[in-house]
Amino acid sequence: MDQLDQQIRSYEEEINSFQPNDANELEAFRIRFLGTKGIVKQIFGAMKDVPADQKKEAGQRLNAFKQLAEARHASFLHLQKSTKSKDTTQDLTLPGTPVPRGGRHPLRVVENQIVSLFEKLGFSVASGPEIEDDWHNFGSMNLPEHHPARDMQDTFYISKNPDWLLRTHSSSIQARVMESEKPPIRVICPGRVYRNETISARAHCFFHQCEGLYIDKNVSFADLKQTLYYFVTEMFGANTRVRFRPSYFPFTEPSAEMDISCTVCGGSGCSLCKHTGWVEILGCGMVHPNVLRNFNIDPDVYTGFAFGMGVERITQVKFQVNDLRLYSQNDIRFLRQFESL
Ligand code: DAH
Repeated sequence: MDQLDQQIRSYEEEINSFQPNDANELEAFRIRFLGTKGIVKQIFGAMKDVPADQKKEAGQRLNAFKQLAEARHASFLHLQKSTKSKDTTQDLTLPGTPVPRGGRHPLRVVENQIVSLFEKLGFSVASGPEIEDDWHNFGSMNLPEHHPARDMQDTFYISKNPDWLLRTHSSSIQARVMESEKPPIRVICPGRVYRNETISARAHCFFHQCEGLYIDKNVSFADLKQTLYYFVTEMFGANTRVRFRPSYFPFTEPSAEMDISCTVCGGSGCSLCKHTGWVEILGCGMVHPNVLRNFNIDPDVYTGFAFGMGVERITQVKFQVNDLRLYSQNDIRFLRQFESL
C-alpha cells in the first residue's frame, strides 16, 4: 500500500504540473495516463497484489487518482475547444469545481439556539475557564469540602495542584460572573464540562451545558417558571407541556427539575421517555442565600434564579440522537444530517 501510494503521489505531481502547449501534447498526456495501456490501467492492474484488508483503501486512493487525471485532461480539452471556436483563452461560463461546504456541529447549532432565545429576553453571554479552582466549581456554590453532594459529580482533578480541576458544571461560570459584576445580573453561560465517567451511549467524560442566572430585586420563582416556559415553547413548540418536580441542588433553595412532555410520542409513552410521557431537561431553583453572600450580594435585598441544562440532552430530545458518542466521533454521515441548520 505504501509503495503504491508513493508511486501515485509522484504521478499526481506530474499531473498537477502538466501544462500542454498544443493538442499533440494533450493527446500524449491522455495516452500516457488514460489510454488502454496507460498508467491508470496499469495501477488498477496492480490492485490484485494489494492484501485483501487494504483493498478498500487502495481502491479509494486509485479512484481519486483516476479522477484527477480525467479532470485535468477534460479541463485542457475544454480550453482547447473554446480557444479554437472563439479564440478566447478561457471560457468563463464553465461551472467551477464544486467546493464541499462544511456545516455547524449539531451541538453548536442547538447551543446557538438556546443562547439566542435568552438573548431575546435580555440575557447576555458569559464564559469562564474549563480548568477551574475548587472555590468556583464547588466551594462558592455552597458545596464546602466533604459535602456529600460533591459525589454527585465525578471530578477530574489536576495532579499538579490539588486545588485545580476540570469544571464539572457550568455553574462555575455563575461564580465567575457574580464575582465580577453587581446586580442586576442576567447571563446565559454555555460551555464544556468534564466528569470522570466511563464513555457509553448515555454518559461521556465531557459534554456541554448552558447555565442561566438572573439576580435582581424581587426575582421570584414565578419569573423562573415563566422564563423556562418561554424557552420550552420556543425550542420545542407551543404544544409542549412542562412540569416542575421538587429536587435538591446545594446552590439553590428551593430546587426543581423540569420535565417536558415527550417530543417523540407527545406523552403517550415511547422509548425516549421510558414510557412515562415526560423527559427531564434541566435543573433549576432560587439562588441559595449562601451563594449570594459568597459574592457580597445581600440576600435581603436581592433574589435570583438559576438553571442549568445539558446541550447534548436538548439536542437528543430535539433530534432523537440516541447515542452520546455520535457527537464526538466525527462521522460525516451523522454530521451531514445537520448541515442545513
Ligand atoms: N449544575 C447542575 C448540574 O450540573 C445543574 C443545575 C441545577 C444548575 C440547578 C443550576 C441549578 O443553576 O439551579 O447537574
